Amino acid sequence: MSRHDEMTTFEYDRNGEVEVLQQRTRRMPSPGHDEVLVEVVTAGVNHIDGFIRSGREEAWADVPFPRGSGSDFAGIVVAGDADGRFRRGDEVIGHLRQGAHASHVIAPVGALVRKPPSVSWETAGGLFLAGATALDTLDDLRVGPGDTVVISAAAGGVGSIEAQLAKQRGARVIGTCGERNFDYLRQVGIRPVTYGAGIEERIRELAPDGVTVLIDNFGQDGRALAEALGVPASRYRSSADRRETELSLLQDDPDSVAHATALLARLAHLADEHAFTLLISGYYPLTELASAYDDLQNLHARGKIVLGTHPVTTYRTLKARDVQEARD
Ligand SMILES: NC(=O)c1ccc[n+]([C@@H]2O[C@H](COP(=O)([O-])OP(=O)(O)OC[C@H]3O[C@@H](n4cnc5c(N)ncnc54)[C@H](OP(=O)(O)O)[C@@H]3O)[C@@H](O)[C@H]2O)c1
Repeated sequence: MSRHDEMTTFEYDRNGEVEVLQQRTRRMPSPGHDEVLVEVVTAGVNHIDGFIRSGREEAWADVPFPRGSGSDFAGIVVAGDADGRFRRGDEVIGHLRQGAHASHVIAPVGALVRKPPSVSWETAGGLFLAGATALDTLDDLRVGPGDTVVISAAAGGVGSIEAQLAKQRGARVIGTCGERNFDYLRQVGIRPVTYGAGIEERIRELAPDGVTVLIDNFGQDGRALAEALGVPASRYRSSADRRETELSLLQDDPDSVAHATALLARLAHLADEHAFTLLISGYYPLTELASAYDDLQNLHARGKIVLGTHPVTTYRTLKARDVQEARD
């Protein structure tokens, strides 16, 4: 096979940690009806990918091995669909139940949206699962003007999008984070507060008129905090609720795919309008997928960690957080 007939993909044959991920070369697939072949430029990594791989997610128990890794991608259509909805050369953002961590993917046309030219490849590849989870959660909670919203892990992948979009809807937003992220959150109009002991008092100081919504991304004491702050149960979302949202966004039945794609289209539009900015705290070559997961599992990403299939160099570049951590 010539290289044009091959693609690279990451798969696993059994549940486990990053060690089970295998880089494999496969024959280039051909798109079927209602499908396109996309050359991936960037792809996101998400905690739930790791939970699924580890076998923790029972909803995936029946998915046969080998399984692909990853759900978010952005790329260029290299073989379009028969009806001409997407043509060779179109720049797209898409989502898959599995297999986005690859040089090429076959994607249903119903799981793709066009990448606005103003949206960078790095943002586009990291947009889907974190962004759709954030948007779905804000829709579900009907966050709007008059709300005071507390969001945990507000500098992380989901939280940073959620916090900016809540602000854009007219809510006042308080975000929990470590002190190193205070300046970042302030720059995007979010009032930062450190997590940990004493958080209730710190939030009360920032929100003397009360809190109406609490979204716990991180999963520590969220319910007790929401109750203490007088947030109605209907306007509290736990980390377990978020997990349910993410799992539903990864279903591949037609209704779920259509819902996820509609959210992705709105996100692409919001990113194009600069309603939020997605920070990228790590950009790794696809072949360094295991390092990208290590970085993610440190739990201090600012924004998203993204993989690139066309890195300018395969050297590991020093990241701002490496500099910071070397001093600590
Ligand atoms: N329940 C589930 O099944 C489920 C599903 C998805 C994700 N999660 C969890 O949700 C968390 C955030 O998800 P993500 O995708 O946004 O991850 P992420 O991008 O990795 O989030 C990292 C952020 O978490 C913040 N953080 C670290 N320790 C914290 C703490 N004790 N309290 C509050 N925030 C803290 C960090 O802020 P600083 O760097 O400023 O400290 C960092 O900005 C992860 O821990 C993930 O495992 C749970």
